[in-house]
Formats: sequence, structure tokens, C-alpha cells
Amino acid sequence: MSKNSKLEELGGTTWLISGGGGFIGSYFLDLLRVCNERVFSRPCRVLCIDNFLTGVPDRVRHLLDNKHFHFINGDITKPLEIIGDVHYIIHAAGIASPPIYRQYPLETIEVNVTGLKNLLELAITKKPKSFMYFSSSEIYGDPSPENIPTAEDYNGNVSCTGPRACYDESKRLGETLAVNYFRQYDLPVKVVRPFNIYGPGLHLGDRRVLPDFFRGAIMEKKIRVLSDGSPTRSFCYIRDGIAGFLSVLLSDFQGEAFNIGSDQETSIIELAHLVADITGDVEVEFQQSPDAEYLTDNPRRRCPDLTKAKALLEYRPQVSLEAGLRRMLAWYTDVYVNKGVKV
Ligand SMILES: NC(=O)c1ccc[n+]([C@@H]2O[C@H](COP(=O)([O-])OP(=O)(O)OC[C@H]3O[C@@H](n4cnc5c(N)ncnc54)[C@H](O)[C@@H]3O)[C@@H](O)[C@H]2O)c1
Repeated sequence: MSKNSKLEELGGTTWLISGGGGFIGSYFLDLLRVCNERVFSRPCRVLCIDNFLTGVPDRVRHLLDNKHFHFINGDITKPLEIIGDVHYIIHAAGIASPPIYRQYPLETIEVNVTGLKNLLELAITKKPKSFMYFSSSEIYGDPSPENIPTAEDYNGNVSCTGPRACYDESKRLGETLAVNYFRQYDLPVKVVRPFNIYGPGLHLGDRRVLPDFFRGAIMEKKIRVLSDGSPTRSFCYIRDGIAGFLSVLLSDFQGEAFNIGSDQETSIIELAHLVADITGDVEVEFQQSPDAEYLTDNPRRRCPDLTKAKALLEYRPQVSLEAGLRRMLAWYTDVYVNKGVKV
């Protein structure tokens, strides 16, 4: 079946998306809005729940008057009642930015575990066609060198008590919960492990590394690198991320996880210079973070082995890091410089 006819089949369905005010969740909302306008003969109905702990109301403002979208300003960790059928459930709520999850460790655990459990329980009664849980590449912790690039069958090297454990370990427990609901209730559960997804919409105050670098570059003409610059990450442009997530959601691979990202590994110092070069006239300097825990358990290298996603889902990320960063810069310039939006 072609990808387009697979997409058309989604018309007339109901979606429940947690974290729709977040970076990735809001792309799903916009994708479904565009499909309602241009692809589906019968529009889909979209329910979104977000407590806006890290989400941005501006991301969903344009959808508030759309009769196919319904927003619940609420906490997914609290009991949830949804009337009517639900065909697709996406749990994209979470606290993904390291400085922010360290500020809210218990909320981070709750949304990854209790929030997920609430949605899995709902799925038992709603019997959706597919359920997707956003886990993370952080479940691998700090892999040994022979496990770079990291495949899905690597079990991880993770501290259970360090400052990052609230995120890493609760994402791991989330995966355990998800696959056991699949085993016990035969729910169509899919798990994705995203690797550093970025792009327009990741707001400058987010406190993840790329918004931090752009914030320094645009606002102060100075990028501060808070490590020795040697750790690596693999950055995946949002368009490639969404294509991968959608392939997993619509696949028949239940109760197992997929790496989704780009396998182009880049050191943090290379990234800083790339951002400086495309922004222009920007200094790069090393500094120590005021947060003493900033580098504790910081993974030295992060790069996905995409063999499984490429073979089973025909997943092919396409946007180069430089092209993606240029699009991100264009968006930041439009929003924060031309329109003067405050960070
Ligand atoms: N973006 C990435 O590179 C990346 C990488 C790995 C994993 N992930 C995971 O993917 C998911 C989406 O990531 P993102 O980048 O969009 O993060 P984000 O922080 O931009 O969005 C998460 C959203 O969840 C909402 N939220 C948090 N707790 C909630 C609660 N209890 N109830 C309702 N809403 C709540 C936040 O307000 C926010 O709008 C998260 O689970 C994240 O951990 C993202």
C-alpha cells in the first residue's frame, strides 16, 4: 500500500495526543490539521492534553478555534475521562530539557510512568488501532565505545541515582510498562527512542543545547560551551523525526522499540562552530556551568544505529545538519528578531 493511501485511511479517526503544546507533539497537531485541510475526505478529530509545564501556548493558539481540535489544559498524571472512540494515542508529554527535568525530578518521573499508565489503562477500554510512547535515546545512558552507534538491543549504562536518573530511569520503566501492557492486554503499543530532534518551534528558552547556542549567537553574539566540547550528539531535523515516528505508529511492529534520529555524529564544539558560522560574526568560548551537576553522567557519545528502522520501516533521514540549522535560524530570526517575541 502506498504511503499516501495509508495516510488517507487516517481520515475520520480520533486522536489523543498528550504533550501537544510541546515541540514534537505540536508538529503532530499541525500535520493532522494539514491532512484535514488537504488530504482527508473525512476530517479527523484531535484531542490534546497538556499542562504547559514546558509547553508553549503559542504553538496551539491557531488551533483553538478549529472545530476538529479540542484542548484539555490538564495533567496527564491525573485520572482521565475521554468520551467516545479513540483510534490513535500518542504519549508525547514529558519533561525533556535536562536543566528543567532536574528542577522537576518527581514530575518528570510521574509523566513518564503514571501519565503513561493512565493512557495505557484508557487504551484497554478504547482499543485504539495504535498507541505510541515517546521514550528516549537517554535510556542508553553512556554507552561503551563498542556500542556506538547504539542499536536497540543494547541494554544501556545508566545510573539509577544520579541527577539525570529521574529522566533516564523513568523512560526505561515507561518502556517496561508499555511492553507489558502489550504482552498482557495485546495492546498495539509502539515505542520510539528519539535522538536529539530539533527544528523551528524549539523555542529559545527551552534550555536544550541547540536553543542555548542560538540564544547566545543571536542575542549576545557569543556561544558558551559548558563542557570541553568533546561529547557528541546526533541531531535529527524535525521533518525526519516526524516521518520516522509516523512510520512506527502506523507499522505492525508492536511491543518493541525503534531508534529514530540521524546517524551523523557531531561533537558539541563542532556544533557550536556550525551555529556560529551560519549566524555570522559570533564568538565561541568555553565556560563552566553554574550548575555543579551539569556534566554529571553526561553521555560522552550519542549516535543511533538505524539499521532496524532502515530495514523494517524504510526510514531514511534526509535533511543535513547544516540545512536544518539554517531553517532553525530563519525561524528564530523571524520570531525573536523581526517579530520581537520575548524569550
Ligand atoms: N525532542 C527530543 O529531541 C526528544 C528526544 C528524546 C525523547 N523525547 C521525548 O519526546 C517527548 C516530546 O518531546 P518534546 O521535545 O516535544 O518535549 P517538550 O518539552 O517540548 O514537550 C513536552 C510537553 O509535555 C507537556 N507536559 C509535561 N508534563 C505534563 C503532564 N504531566 N501532563 C500534561 N502535559 C505535560 C509539556 O508542557 C510540554 O508541552 C517527551 O516525552 C520527550 O521526553 C524528545
